[in-house]
Amino acid sequence: MKTVKCAYLAIVSILGMWLLLAVFSATPVEAKLQYASKEKTACKTCHVKPAPKKDDNELNDVGKCYQRCEHKNLDQCKKDPVNTCKA
Ligand code: HEC
Repeated sequence: MKTVKCAYLAIVSILGMWLLLAVFSATPVEAKLQYASKEKTACKTCHVKPAPKKDDNELNDVGKCYQRCEHKNLDQCKKDPVNTCKA
């Protein structure tokens, strides 16, 4: 019986931590995951690294262009990342 209770506690605390993490970290990453799924394209389309993280999310030219374009015109940015949406 004791082991069962232990396992239960472990699961509850893991779930709890996971929830806390989700609450604190979800917003920005979720927003970016949205760009990726909205645009149906890999992270590498806009980022230098294939799996960008919060503190390591350098944008490539296409990504910078997409940001300049207020997250629109991805197709145009892919064709001409330097001049699209230039002020
Ligand atoms: C269509 C272009 C695009 C794609 C695809 C994309 N990103 Fe991004 N990402 C951006 C831009 C632009 C920014 C800079 C912040 C902004 O403009 O909102 C950014 C920022 C981020 C950040 C920093 C978030 C912050 O608010 O500090 C993370 C983390 C990130 N992206 C992860 C990802 C991951 C993981 C993927 C793939 C699943 C991905 N991105 C795909 C364009 C993209």
